Amino acid sequence: MTSRLVVLVSGNGTNMDAVASACASGVLDADVVCVVSNHPAVGAIDRAERHGIPVEVVPAGGRTRAMYDGVLAHIIESYEPDLVVLAGWMRIVTRSFVTRFPVINIHPALPGAFPGLEAIDRAFDAWQAGEINTSGVMVHWVPDEGVDDGPVVAMREVPFQSDDSRESFEARIHETEHTLLVEAIGLALTELGVNA
Ligand code: GAR
Repeated sequence: MTSRLVVLVSGNGTNMDAVASACASGVLDADVVCVVSNHPAVGAIDRAERHGIPVEVVPAGGRTRAMYDGVLAHIIESYEPDLVVLAGWMRIVTRSFVTRFPVINIHPALPGAFPGLEAIDRAFDAWQAGEINTSGVMVHWVPDEGVDDGPVVAMREVPFQSDDSRESFEARIHETEHTLLVEAIGLALTELGVNA
């Protein structure tokens, strides 16, 4: 049975795009049944519309985190997802939200390194300061309200290259994300006992 994915976005949506393309080409036996954005004017919305995917825009609008996640969960539930994918979702989700669906998150750093915002920039700065030689990408389960933390579904190292610029490193990170996220969704659906 084709799996149902709901993808949550806050920005460009290139990861969501990669997932939607993998579904369209049959690499994943899954459909992105809805894209949810917390911002009304982001590139991810145009990308979702180009794929013909329904979009729900749910701005915070001064709600508390608990109230917001209640509204969000209610909308998502109506799409009956097998898996919720945070793909550049720049909000912490509440514990009660993650008890309602299996949730995974992609983060542009290795487990335990550079959680939170601007992870790519912070990794690049650490490399320039001689502190690290490699960074990477991970996809993890979201078991609680932690930030970019949880059991790893898949990860891949992205080593620095001697002639790297911030831009070349960032491009390799994003390229890695787009393949790793598709693989990780397949692994997560298998772990959940849903066909992928
Ligand atoms: C991606 O690099 C993703 O890993 C990151 O936001 C970007 C979204 O790009 N997520 C985090 O930093 C989570 N803490 P996209 O909108 O083009 O997919």
